Amino acid sequence: MYSDIIKLFQAAQKIIVFTGAGISTNCGIPDFRSPNGLYRTLKQRYNDLPYPEAIFDLGYFQENPAPFFDLSRDICSQNAEPSLAHKFIAWLESEGKIALVVTQNIDMLHHRSGLKKVLECHGTYRSAHCLSCRKYYTFEDIDDDMLAGEIPHCDCGGIIKPDIVFFGEALPQRFYELYAKPPDADLVLVMGSSLTVEPAAGFAVNLAQNIPSILVNLEPTHYDGLFTYAIHQDIDMFTQQVWSELQPDFLPQ
Ligand code: OAD
Repeated sequence: MYSDIIKLFQAAQKIIVFTGAGISTNCGIPDFRSPNGLYRTLKQRYNDLPYPEAIFDLGYFQENPAPFFDLSRDICSQNAEPSLAHKFIAWLESEGKIALVVTQNIDMLHHRSGLKKVLECHGTYRSAHCLSCRKYYTFEDIDDDMLAGEIPHCDCGGIIKPDIVFFGEALPQRFYELYAKPPDADLVLVMGSSLTVEPAAGFAVNLAQNIPSILVNLEPTHYDGLFTYAIHQDIDMFTQQVWSELQPDFLPQ
């Protein structure tokens, strides 16, 4: 099987990559739905959280933004470094093989790996807006507060919310455009997502049905059967195997 996968990577010129929280667990950032993921531990950390996903609920945030900002301190930690898989995707781009990367992740690690063609479909911490007057802020405007776990406030007194897509909010317009008309691709690589959150998951699943596709995820997903290859393995172990074949002088970092 691996030799067929290597051949797919060697031949591919236009790869679409779709990533989820599982690509960052080896960087020390927990995912959401694994047995020790955030949605299992949040309720223990924040007694008054009515249900785990409420941390990304606008109504709850307006009442009680503290849990979101406490969690943000962990997610935005400057100590997290890109994983081998983040670096592999950036390397594929430097080889001219990437058509597009769509990530659900808000941890900025694809950017930190040097990747350029990335769409953060669940938003980003790099920009933020005041919930009251809509004033625009950058990450640097609020990072001191955020990294201290404090709630950033606007000059007008409103709470500043990073531009993370909360449940019920629209995804970036460009995502819908790409959903309707994805770029031409010859391989789809999905890494580290339970494929449970729509419409993001639908983007990957639709593509996987129509072109050669590889899913790398520790746990099975409902859509494994739609992929050409569904591999239940640690992402960085998979990456190491593939990258060392594609680039023989590759040294594991
Ligand atoms: P999930 O937590 O739902 O899924 C992560 C998947 O990664 C799980 O199925 C794990 O088995 C797998 N995984 C974890 N570590 C792995 C590793 N080292 N190697 C291989 N697989 C691994 O995360 P997402 O699918 O990204 O929304 O969740 C989608 C959205 O739900 C997130 O974007 C988030 C959340 O609500 C926002 O942040 C706005």
